[in-house]
Amino acid sequence: MSVEKLFANAPAKTILAPMAGYTDFAFRSICKNYGVGLTVTEMVSAKALVMGNEQTKELLYRLPNDNNCFCQIFGHEPDVMAECVTYPELAKFEGIDINMGCPVKKIVKGGDGSALLEDPTLASKCITAVKNAIGSKPLSVKFRLGVDDDKHAVDFAKMCADAGADFITVHFRTRKQMYAGHADYTLLPQIANCGLPVFANGDITTREQYLQMLDMGAFGVAIGRGALGKPQVFSDVANLTYNVNFPQTIGFHAQSLLLHFPDKIVANELKKHVCFYLKGKRSTKNTVVAVNLAKSTEQILQLVEEYFQMYPQFAEVTND
Ligand SMILES: Cc1cc2nc3c(=O)[nH]c(=O)nc-3n(C[C@H](O)[C@H](O)[C@H](O)COP(=O)(O)O)c2cc1C
Repeated sequence: MSVEKLFANAPAKTILAPMAGYTDFAFRSICKNYGVGLTVTEMVSAKALVMGNEQTKELLYRLPNDNNCFCQIFGHEPDVMAECVTYPELAKFEGIDINMGCPVKKIVKGGDGSALLEDPTLASKCITAVKNAIGSKPLSVKFRLGVDDDKHAVDFAKMCADAGADFITVHFRTRKQMYAGHADYTLLPQIANCGLPVFANGDITTREQYLQMLDMGAFGVAIGRGALGKPQVFSDVANLTYNVNFPQTIGFHAQSLLLHFPDKIVANELKKHVCFYLKGKRSTKNTVVAVNLAKSTEQILQLVEEYFQMYPQFAEVTND
């Protein structure tokens, strides 16, 4: 399927950037309600899938409205990566994304994520193997500008095109930068000239930035941290009207996770999201502390309810 077709029904060419520990199936569904074009799962280990790891499979749940979703895999063994994408759990996704940008030490040490930036030949083999395994289904590659500098970024983008990727998402930081400083979009026009549609990623939170990225040659943008606690960022970017009811959204997130996970796990997941939902609102300090100490999902939801009862003016946000 062409990238144009993938986004044919989307109000804007936006991707919810994958974020381990955050872009769970419930959060993806919430972002979909606010107009995101494509979502991506948290990264899943190709090796763990092939070994039948049940916990890894839990990252592959999805809700019916999350109907344009790629599964992101990481690995460095072309045959293992090619095998896992044929499994029914992965075949149900609209496409596959390969992680070639993760800077986390444990991942890099294992030869995965951004380690592949240092070995474009192996990266190319991984891309080709996965593309051959999934056939006409779209394949994207997500990578950073480079390890210490951006000298090889354009060549890496060209390699992705030659190896068979359908589009790329580029986080315009180096591995060395981790998440510090600002994304540097200087090379975007050159990377956009490499033969593949490019989704620009890094620090994007507004429609103005989105339009600027399109002007510079991007096909679309991927938004990660800008969506945490603020799923309406996708409506902003797409120029849509929206209304977010935070207690309801948090309640939906909790109830959805509880369908699949034990309370303790849900509570820990939810805490992180609730802190983002409360960010920037008035007098949240005590609630945030209490949420982080809470022992159950019910307790967290109770604290959320109490906060919004105290400050009903923050319970909803709309641009209508
Ligand atoms: C907590 C966290 C987890 C992340 N996990 C992943 C991941 O699993 N796969 C991936 O490709 N990128 C991951 N990223 C990187 C984001 O997808 C994105 O490239 C980065 O945050 C820059 O975009 P932003 O400024 O819009 O957040 C993660 C980032 C954060 C903050």
